[in-house]
Amino acid sequence: MSLNPEDKTIAFVIKPILFTVCLVPFITLVIGAVNNTLGTNPVETMTHETGEWTLRFLLLTLMITPLRRLSGKSWLIKLRRMLGLYAFFYACLHFITYIWFDQYFDWMEVVRDIPKRPFITVGFTAFVLLIPLAVTSNNKMIRLLKKNWVKLHKLVYVIAVLGVLHFLWLVKADTLEPLIYASILLILLGYRAYYQRRKNI
Ligand code: HEM
Repeated sequence: MSLNPEDKTIAFVIKPILFTVCLVPFITLVIGAVNNTLGTNPVETMTHETGEWTLRFLLLTLMITPLRRLSGKSWLIKLRRMLGLYAFFYACLHFITYIWFDQYFDWMEVVRDIPKRPFITVGFTAFVLLIPLAVTSNNKMIRLLKKNWVKLHKLVYVIAVLGVLHFLWLVKADTLEPLIYASILLILLGYRAYYQRRKNI
């Protein structure tokens, strides 16, 4: 099968560049951990960085469809899966940081902590909901699930709402940052509702 020039640029230029750029926060964390430059509380830095990157990648994933519609650049859709999988990757790192450095692999304590602290309950729910999306993100599953795939992947909106709620819930004083994420999400949800309404008229 021969690729047209646009597909070649996406496959051999844009995707590898994006893949590398998305790895930068992870590499920065690893270098910081090895060189002991993650500040006075390295675990806190790791939790914060991985949590925020999960949310950023979730929102970037949700931005692809509106950007594609508004710009007419249909190739943008080919980057969505990678961004979504990066959201899952950073969520896994975030969860591992919690299990490892917050709970020291004390599974009984984890089971007690998840329902005890509401912001953890919400974050955990978002993480669990991300798993089926990551598992079904390949072409084989898209073909197999057909229309159900689209329905299932709408869960990403619920996950993003839970992610923002999790952040809003855990901050004690400075709510500016979570509110910025909440506003971006609101705009994305608003655009989606507007588009659906126009489509149904
Ligand atoms: C999609 C899933 C999730 C998202 C988007 C997310 C996002 C975030 C964000 C943005 C922060 C704050 C970072 C900052 O302060 O700058 C955070 C902190 C945190 N998250 Fe998550 N999270 C998720 C899942 C989880 C899960 C599954 C757990 C554990 C079971 C968890 C535990 C924590 C903890 C312990 C903190 C730090 C709280 C503190 O500073 O006191 N998160 N998360």
